[in-house]
Amino acid sequence: MSTTLPTSTPELTTRPELPTPTNTRALRLVAALRQWGDVQPLSNLFAPGNAHGIQMVTWCQDGARLVDDAVSFEADVVVLDPSLPSFALEDIQRLLHYEARPIITIGAIPPHGDWGSALYRAGIKGHIELPLNDDNARRLVSLFHGAMQEALRERSSASYIPQIAPQLAQVIATQGWQRAVIAVWSAKGGVGKTTVAENLAMLLGVVSNRKTILLDANMAGGNAHIHLRLSPQRNIAGLARLFEAQKRLDPKDVLGYLTPFRNNLQVLVGIPRQFMAGEMCFQGAQGREFTQTLIETLHSMSDFVVMDLGQDTNSAVHLQALRQADEILVVVNSEKASLLDTQEVLETLWEHVQMDRSRFRLVLNRFHPEHGLRRKEIVEVMKLPEVGVIPEAGEKVTASLNSGVPIVLNGGGEVAESLVRVGTTLYPPLEQIWSQRGKFKPKGKGLREKLFGGKRP
Ligand SMILES: Nc1ncnc2c1ncn2[C@@H]1O[C@H](COP(=O)(O)OP(=O)(O)OP(=O)(O)O)[C@@H](O)[C@H]1O
Ligand SMILES: [Mg+2]
Repeated sequence: MSTTLPTSTPELTTRPELPTPTNTRALRLVAALRQWGDVQPLSNLFAPGNAHGIQMVTWCQDGARLVDDAVSFEADVVVLDPSLPSFALEDIQRLLHYEARPIITIGAIPPHGDWGSALYRAGIKGHIELPLNDDNARRLVSLFHGAMQEALRERSSASYIPQIAPQLAQVIATQGWQRAVIAVWSAKGGVGKTTVAENLAMLLGVVSNRKTILLDANMAGGNAHIHLRLSPQRNIAGLARLFEAQKRLDPKDVLGYLTPFRNNLQVLVGIPRQFMAGEMCFQGAQGREFTQTLIETLHSMSDFVVMDLGQDTNSAVHLQALRQADEILVVVNSEKASLLDTQEVLETLWEHVQMDRSRFRLVLNRFHPEHGLRRKEIVEVMKLPEVGVIPEAGEKVTASLNSGVPIVLNGGGEVAESLVRVGTTLYPPLEQIWSQRGKFKPKGKGLREKLFGGKRP
């Protein structure tokens, strides 16, 4: 048997650079398309030795093989028809965060169906419409180069979050952690519940790449879809009505209502209009049963469920979610009246609703020493252990909410660091993963030289 069998291990597939006049290699393109008719214009235009600096290296017809093919052919770019059999949307992120270099995906959008927005959310860097012909295939040339520059810029930015290196994955595997349902709650409005819940979900599902579901269960009106720029169409109310009609929920039903965000984070969007909270499906025993079944199903599908709850404990949904959570993060600000109000509600929950007080933890948000309360005093009043102190950050947090990128994915800083400390109490490996951020430097000198002429962009 020959000793030079091809292998899909990335380190072992190094190929000699293609000889070109500038001694840089062509961009390698994988055509992940169903129809030969669409592949043909690409194989003509990007034949070996063509003048565009792009070479088509293979035709992938099976979605299940896409990542393997792209890695073993050392692809830089994939042109993808999402209706390819067995294709999984998460593979776009897998390729984009491939350790050795970003492999970018350009969507080849079929004329029927509604693929565009889902593909952009999944991470494609541009698109072209099917069927392909010599004219629209030519557009790909500038699309590839622009998209590649963008992906390389993302990689070299300080806030880039890499996929976890194998050595780090091993360290993580040896550290203990438990799957959990986490509720973020407070007895007051506007104290930072959503800020904490969304950022925690990012830290667990995007940064740590653990399977995480952000559940926006605030019956005073959901905000997550606005902050994260998700379509409100598939939301918790739709699922509650489904449960009301069929009296059960399967993971498959739930999956149909989740919206992917990035990496391993999915979102169950909350009620887009406040009046929906008044629907029968959220009331009394019906609301309780729905919430219980929903949380059990989400828990069975993920490592972490992070729930953003509204303040009102008279809501069946909020109360049931508090009952079921493994851990409840109570968000407070350093303002005396709000602390005392929250304390009063907590006492009621502990005594009259018999909720186990050991599951409650304190997150002090918008803390500023000049507010005149000491952390120690606050902990004493609240009778809860403190797991995080987030400083008052002026306009930064709101600006980040408005930008569509939660603050922990937006370059770090004091607020992000303090949120990471809260996240570490739930998932200890986060500390090491976080410290890896921004350390990545793109490899593949030839490619950089080709794109930027040897200068940094
Ligand atoms: N540490 C902070 N520093 C500065 N501003 C903050 C901080 N935390 C939250 N904010 C701002 O306070 C406002 C309320 O935050 P958020 O929406 O998270 O509160 P909430 O408790 O979820 O509110 P609601 O009760 O309406 O659901 C937002 O504008 C947010 O940007
Ligand atoms: Mg909120």
